[in-house]
Amino acid sequence: MSLMSDTDKQIKNPDNKTFKAYRQSFDVRFEYPVHFTHQVFDFDNPLLESVLDRLNEQKCHRCIVFIDSNVAETHPEIIKKIESYFQAREKKIELACQPCIMPADKKSGWDIVHNIVSVIKENHLDRQSFVIAVGGGSVLDIVGFACSIVHRGLRLLRLPTTTLAQADAGIGVKNGMDTSYMKNFIGTFAPPFAVINDFDFLSTLSFEDWTAGIAEAFKVAIIKDADFFDYLCTNGDALRQRDISVMTEAIYRCAMIHLEHIRTSGDAFEFGSARPLDFGHWAAHKIETISDYQIGHGQAVAIGIAIDSFYAMRQGLINQAQLQRITEGLIRCGLDVYNEIISKRTAAGELTILEGLRQFQEHLGGELTVTLPKNIGAKIEVNNIDSDIIEEAVQYLQGICKQGSD
Ligand SMILES: NC(=O)c1ccc[n+]([C@@H]2O[C@H](COP(=O)([O-])OP(=O)(O)OC[C@H]3O[C@@H](n4cnc5c(N)ncnc54)[C@H](O)[C@@H]3O)[C@@H](O)[C@H]2O)c1
Ligand SMILES: [Zn+2]
Repeated sequence: MSLMSDTDKQIKNPDNKTFKAYRQSFDVRFEYPVHFTHQVFDFDNPLLESVLDRLNEQKCHRCIVFIDSNVAETHPEIIKKIESYFQAREKKIELACQPCIMPADKKSGWDIVHNIVSVIKENHLDRQSFVIAVGGGSVLDIVGFACSIVHRGLRLLRLPTTTLAQADAGIGVKNGMDTSYMKNFIGTFAPPFAVINDFDFLSTLSFEDWTAGIAEAFKVAIIKDADFFDYLCTNGDALRQRDISVMTEAIYRCAMIHLEHIRTSGDAFEFGSARPLDFGHWAAHKIETISDYQIGHGQAVAIGIAIDSFYAMRQGLINQAQLQRITEGLIRCGLDVYNEIISKRTAAGELTILEGLRQFQEHLGGELTVTLPKNIGAKIEVNNIDSDIIEEAVQYLQGICKQGSD
C-alpha cells in the first residue's frame, strides 16, 4: 500500500490529529494503430477485418457503421460495399444494423448524440463491440463523443475521409461537440481502438475541404519541422492543383508529427495549460463560432496562423521574410489569410476575435498560454497577447487580401 509522500500536504483535523490518507496512483497504457491504405471496403482488402481482430479474440466482432452523409452521397456505392465486405466475412465480423447516415457539417446538438446512443442501445452493443465512424472531423468528433459515453466507452474505429481528419482530427485522442458559445465545449479524451486512413476518399472533397488539411500541416510544420515547411511551400501549386501524391505525403508527415507529439509530450490529455500544437487556434476557434461555423476549421486555422505569425514577427521571433513565406505559402496552397469576419468589432469597439483568447484560456484552465513560432521549425509559449498588435495583424492581412484582388 502506498502512503502519503513527503510532498503531499499533511492536513490536520480540527483536533490537531492528521487525517488518514492513501495515495492512489496508476498508469493506463493506450495503444492504437494508424493505418494508411486505399479502397478499404474492397472485397480483397483484408485490413479492416484484421484491424477489428487485432486483439486475436477468436470471436465474431459486432459493429455499427456511422457514415457522413456527404461521403455516402459522393461515394454512392459505399453502403453496398460495406455490407458486402461484412457479408463475405460473416463468421468473423458482423454488422449489427445497416450503416447509419450522419448529418454532415453538424458537430453540435444533443439530439444527434442521442440518436447515436439510441442506435447503439437498440442494437445492444457492448464494450467489446465496435463503432466505426466514417467521415470528416465533425462526424468523427460527435460519433466519437457519443461512443465514449455509452457504457463508459465502446471501441471506436475511425475512418477519416477529409485531408484535415486524416492529418489531424481523426488520429488523436480527443472528440467533441461545438456549441454556439464555444468550440469543443463538450467532449472527452478517448483514444480510438484504431484508425484507417483511406486516401481514395479524398478525390470527392470540395476545394475548400481539400485545402483544409494543408492548414493543419502548415501549423505543425511552422512550429516543429522546417523541412516539412519547405516541402509545403515548394509544393504549393501541386497541393492547390490536387496532386494526390503530394497530398498523401503531406498528410502522412502531418499525422506523424501529431502522433509523435501525443506520444512524447507527457501531456496527452492536456492537463496543463498549454496546447502546444494549437498554434493559430485561439483565433481560429473564434472565427468558426463568429461565422456560425460557415467558415470551416481548416480555413479558420489558416487565418489564425497568419495572425499569430504576424504577432511573432512583431515580437522578433520570426523575421519579415519568414512571415512572407508563411502567408505566401498558405495562399499558394489555396488558403485565404484574411476574411472580413476578423475585422468585426464588439459594441465596445474591440475586435471580436479577441474574445477567443479568453475562451481559449477558459477551455484549458490556468494561465493563458499561446504558442508562437520561434524561427521556422521551433516554438515558444507566451502568456500575454497585446491586442494592439492583433489590430495591426488584421490590417496587415486585410492589405494582403486587397493586393491579391487588385
Ligand atoms: N478531435 C480532434 O483532435 C480534432 C482536431 C482537429 C479538428 N477537429 C475538428 O474537426 C472538424 C473539422 O473537420 P473537417 O475539416 O474534416 O470538416 P468536416 O468534418 O466538417 O468535413 C468537411 C465537409 O466535407 C464533407 N466530406 C467529408 N468527407 C468527404 C469526402 N470524402 N468527399 C466529399 N465530402 C466529404 C463533410 O460532410 C463536410 O461537409 C472541426 O469541427 C474541428 O473542430 C478535431
Ligand atoms: Zn485544428
